[in-house]
Amino acid sequence: MKTTQSKKLYQKALKLIPGGVNSPVRAFRSVGGTPIYFKSASGSKVKDVDGNTFTDYCMSWGPLILGHARKEVVKAVQDAASKGLSYGACHEAELEFAETILSAFKGFDRVRLTSSGTEAVMTALRVARGATNRDLVLKFEGGYHGHYDGMLVKAGSGLATQSIASSRGVPDAVAKTTLVAPLDDDQAVTILFDQYRTKIAAVIIEPLPANNGLLPQRLEFLKFLREVTQKYGALLIFDEVISGFRLQFGGYGQMLGIAPDLVTLGKIIGGGMPVGAVVGRAAEMDLLAPLGSIYQAGTLSGNPVSVAAGIKTLKLLKAESPYKKLDQLGKRFGEILESSGLHFGRAVSVGSLLWLYLDELEFPRRADRISQIAMERFKKIYGKLLEKGFYLPPSSYEVLFLSSAHTEKDIDSLANALVKELRQMKDKII
Ligand SMILES: Cc1ncc(COP(=O)(O)O)c(C=O)c1O
Repeated sequence: MKTTQSKKLYQKALKLIPGGVNSPVRAFRSVGGTPIYFKSASGSKVKDVDGNTFTDYCMSWGPLILGHARKEVVKAVQDAASKGLSYGACHEAELEFAETILSAFKGFDRVRLTSSGTEAVMTALRVARGATNRDLVLKFEGGYHGHYDGMLVKAGSGLATQSIASSRGVPDAVAKTTLVAPLDDDQAVTILFDQYRTKIAAVIIEPLPANNGLLPQRLEFLKFLREVTQKYGALLIFDEVISGFRLQFGGYGQMLGIAPDLVTLGKIIGGGMPVGAVVGRAAEMDLLAPLGSIYQAGTLSGNPVSVAAGIKTLKLLKAESPYKKLDQLGKRFGEILESSGLHFGRAVSVGSLLWLYLDELEFPRRADRISQIAMERFKKIYGKLLEKGFYLPPSSYEVLFLSSAHTEKDIDSLANALVKELRQMKDKII
């Protein structure tokens, strides 16, 4: 595989952009090597500046459930762009977008748009704090909710001790407003609620944690979170920036029959353009300015081009409902790995989300149970798969995203290439 041009661009980028990238995981630090520079993309394929073609299993980290450059979405973007790139004022398409999103979330009355998932989370947390007049928020270890200060926090040495910032630049005082519990641990959550009782404004969780491995939770655990938050008057926020509209037309919480108080969205609802959203009931959402005194704003919020991409994406999703097919593709991948007979050739899959878990140990449900050997194995094969034309997310902790543009052939060829690499690895291990 030729990488001359990508390498050249990366060397130049290092002098212009911190670490050469505009978002850290793109730097390939955790898999080794240097980033591939994309030139164009269509369907499930991307082309790079050196003339290589890859099948993409990263898909811009989730927004592209319909594949790259889906022609109807591109056309909607072009049409909208030709009428003005940004108004910073009200326009009719915002209403259609809001109606479409709300039609998928029973029990919710309002949606406020932002330009990213991070902003959606930031807004939801502010709404929760404003609505409850409380300061503390409880999140879970390994859950990523964007780069908002209060979410860049990890657990301190003991459960009930204060959390610490996981990034420099986050003030201690802010870190201390976030409590951190392990996933899948009812007892830890109970201890924190016992200790802080009516000080906790909200519990925030991805109902399907997919940012630090794919860690499907027990239904009972999520139900318990619903109960404990209700008991103590805290809000339950489902961060569905990844899972929203990915597993069904709407939220994953609804699929499970659990009703949170607020939902955050992003990725898919923008169809590849920058959009985030907070969805909730009028009671809490109408506390936002200008009606209420919880402030939130954005120059590009409700941007007409992004809204057009979002409406078209959601319309196509509704009409085509690719969920069953996507689920089958995910399962097919797991079956091929399983039929290889390799004890460590495995993947966790939920619908169109796949996570390679190259270990024979039980699939984990919490971050601290993730097998380090599995992560090391992924790193070892990443470059080999890349050379064979498979672009996977460049980190062992990240999930693969399938789209309706992926075919059985795309699935089979990745699975078979993976099995081949793992067999060679096995020969070296044993
Ligand atoms: C669950 C979740 N919440 C929030 C975010 C932040 O979204 P964005 O990157 O659009 O700011 C992400 C991004 O990956 C995410 O996966």
